[in-house]
Amino acid sequence: MRYGPGLLEEVLRRTDIVQLVGKRVKLTRRGQAFWGCCPFHKEKSPSFKVENGRRTFKCFGCGKGGDAFRWLMEIEGLSFPESVERLAGEAGVELPKWSLDDEAREQRRRSLYDIVEEACRFFEAQLGAAAGRAARDYLAGRGLDEAAIKKFRLGFAPSGHDALIDHLRGKNVSLDDAVAAGLARPADEERGARDFFFNRVTFPIADARGRLVAFGARALDPDAKPKYINTGETALFSKGHLLYNFAAARAAAMKAQSIVVAEGYLDVIALVRAGFEHAVAPLGTALTEDQLQILWRTAPEPILAFDGDEAGVRAAQRAARLSLPMLRAGYSLRFAFLPKGEDPDSLLKGQGKAAMQRLLNEAEPLAKVLWRAETEGRDFSTPERRAGLERSLAETVALIGDSKVADYYRRDFEQQVFDTFKRRQAAPRRERGPREEGRRFSAPPVEAVSPLLRSNPVARGGRAAVRRLKELEIARLLFFWPEIADRQGEVLAQLRFQDALLDRLRRELLNLAASGFRLENQGLENHLVRAGLAELASRLKGAERGGDPRDAAVPGDADAEAQFLSAAAELRILAELEPERQRAAERFRTEDSEESWAEFIRLKASGGD
Ligand code: UTP
Ligand code: MN
Repeated sequence: MRYGPGLLEEVLRRTDIVQLVGKRVKLTRRGQAFWGCCPFHKEKSPSFKVENGRRTFKCFGCGKGGDAFRWLMEIEGLSFPESVERLAGEAGVELPKWSLDDEAREQRRRSLYDIVEEACRFFEAQLGAAAGRAARDYLAGRGLDEAAIKKFRLGFAPSGHDALIDHLRGKNVSLDDAVAAGLARPADEERGARDFFFNRVTFPIADARGRLVAFGARALDPDAKPKYINTGETALFSKGHLLYNFAAARAAAMKAQSIVVAEGYLDVIALVRAGFEHAVAPLGTALTEDQLQILWRTAPEPILAFDGDEAGVRAAQRAARLSLPMLRAGYSLRFAFLPKGEDPDSLLKGQGKAAMQRLLNEAEPLAKVLWRAETEGRDFSTPERRAGLERSLAETVALIGDSKVADYYRRDFEQQVFDTFKRRQAAPRRERGPREEGRRFSAPPVEAVSPLLRSNPVARGGRAAVRRLKELEIARLLFFWPEIADRQGEVLAQLRFQDALLDRLRRELLNLAASGFRLENQGLENHLVRAGLAELASRLKGAERGGDPRDAAVPGDADAEAQFLSAAAELRILAELEPERQRAAERFRTEDSEESWAEFIRLKASGGD
């Protein structure tokens, strides 16, 4: 660590945490402590406590808490050293320089910042000057007005090979320093020293504190290769550790508890101009671990909105894999897939803000994206291929660092595998095309609770999943054919769903049936929405990717009722076995080996016999 504990203690001692937190949260005194509504989650009555004596804050609702450094890290997304620097500055505690060397390096850095800043001013001026005419036209053609150019400090690096070097020399900046700042290439055998950027539009890149450290630059000529170049690694700039527009986006991102990651500079600019101020982009490389950490410091589920081309999809998949070892409870990624051929910039231009907002709202969770990566466009019609799928899913789960999160992913995938293959095998009535097969709406057979399944301790661990599925199946039947509840009220009354939301549906239906309401599906949906259960309705509708099962013609209404009765009978058997199941599940958890899991899946997927 850079700062010793004594020093940190000193900074904390001189910091009035009540006053610090009080800038953001309205606090009221109660006894020795101060209370307010937690800024990290929505609440009406205060469960957020600040104590000056212990110099801590703590929310009893969401669990967030810590000292003043932690406060700044959480509320403003600062890193630890940044929050130390900030509070030390405010408290008047001088932070030591380690050595003269450090001090010299610090001085040098400071002057490099000035040089990059000076270069930015030069590029801005050039854009406004005669030489910048073509670049101005180019930017205008991309829909960027004066205000946008000013806000993002866009500029133009003129052609010729030493315009910037010359300018900097006039400001007493040596060639060595221009090279160190990444703005010039040193002389070599063939050529003299020359500007790093020429005949390009420049996009200045700031560090997390908003100081300019580098540039991205786009060629004007559509055929120029490469289209973009960026400052190389310098003392100030390391492209894998920064995000474009991060300093400006941070506050908005913390406030919205959301951050959007696009691929390109122009995407970010278009997003910000459309009101998505919490937009950032990596800097010409794939997203790195460091960048993910930076994103997670500002929002629990950053949304990646990469281009709708092959490269964009690949980049998204890559980021998905990269995130696995770093996932923690509550922290994940979401993915907004742009339509083919679009990026956020073009989408906003073509379809407007609402289309972009919709896309962000519908961003897919990481788990779904991983599942799709393994399954989409593939054919699992042979046992070997299914086994192969299970192996790759197990490998994916094995990459997850956090054991709790891994556990949930394992269950999630199990359920999907089960859902896909079990249904496929259990859809007996008709020949169907391979595409349609996995989407059938039909019950797992009653043999799901065969004697063998009952006696196998590993398989028994999976009964919770079977039961969840069974409940969902019944709920979906009732949702799409509510008239079943009219005729089968007694059966329905005897069931108990463990899933509280599904059980709510069951009780709603019983009430409706008892009060003589006749509902068809749409009526029930409206009723649920009015009862504040819109989420339940959409969950039931969306549970099968095939959409509304009635569109699939079979099963017909009589089938639905028969299916309901058989599923209800199964659920009761499962419920009776519940105590046993729990013991077995515990055993499964403790013997959680790769093999036992594979076998567990196999038993479930093959129909449980
Ligand atoms: P794109 O090619 O999608 O850029 O690359 P864009 O922003 O949509 O480009 P135009 O200007 O609208 O045509 C996305 C990002 O990848 C990096 C840049 O950071 C760019 O913004 N990139 C792209 C490079 O670093 N070098 C390249 O040659 C191309
Ligand atoms: Mn693009």
